[in-house]
Amino acid sequence: MTTTITPLIAGNWKMNGLRGSLDELTALAGMLTTGEAPRAVVVICPPATILAAIARQGASAGILAGGQDCHAAPSGAHTGDISASMLVDAGAQYVIVGHSERREAHGESDADVRAKAEAAIGAGLKPIICVGETEAQRDSGQALDVVAAQLAGSIPDAAELHEIIVAYEPIWAIGTGRTPSNDDIAEMHNSIRDKLVQRFADKGASVRILYGGSLKPQNAREILAVDNVNGGLVGGASLLAKDFYTIISAV
Ligand code: 13P
Repeated sequence: MTTTITPLIAGNWKMNGLRGSLDELTALAGMLTTGEAPRAVVVICPPATILAAIARQGASAGILAGGQDCHAAPSGAHTGDISASMLVDAGAQYVIVGHSERREAHGESDADVRAKAEAAIGAGLKPIICVGETEAQRDSGQALDVVAAQLAGSIPDAAELHEIIVAYEPIWAIGTGRTPSNDDIAEMHNSIRDKLVQRFADKGASVRILYGGSLKPQNAREILAVDNVNGGLVGGASLLAKDFYTIISAV
């Protein structure tokens, strides 16, 4: 069965961005509305402090907003955390869960990520569920198995009925300027697709699988053309409107 999937390009601003960064959003909006219509869904996941402003200002240019994380609980005594419904309230439609930086720095397990994805779905958000291997795991030939285990543990059963997105981000490629070969990306994305179809049948065939990790204007065209790569999750290169627009245009 062939399914046509509209690609999605998401910018993960991580812990970067003040109100002044809205100038970049204005610049991106200008490029998106004056140039050829983008062939991808465009999402920006800014820091929570400017999420509402990004959602408001991006809307007229079709730029959607997402959070970078959410708590698994709907509310309560969780100082410093943000619930999925708060992200919705601020105008988000997506939320990244299980980014490797959170898995590592905040000790998030697959079960934690799954609970967050469930909370996101429950609040009406589309979770972008991140998976990816370390360099040591790749070097020892475990990459496919590691990612398969992360998928099994992190994707909630609710994905059968709701939209989720998977982002494959090899940890060693994040912020390093290094990327896997196109063959390695294809092998991993095909393997992820197989796992999704085994578990969710037709629904699994329609899930977007994004590539992330040093996706740049220079390599976007090539990587986004790889089999089963349905878009990208962009870190550093999403902070500059011109670079992010070039990546969006590479679709
Ligand atoms: P870079 O594009 O900066 O490598 O970051 C990738 C990433 O972690 C996106 O979530």
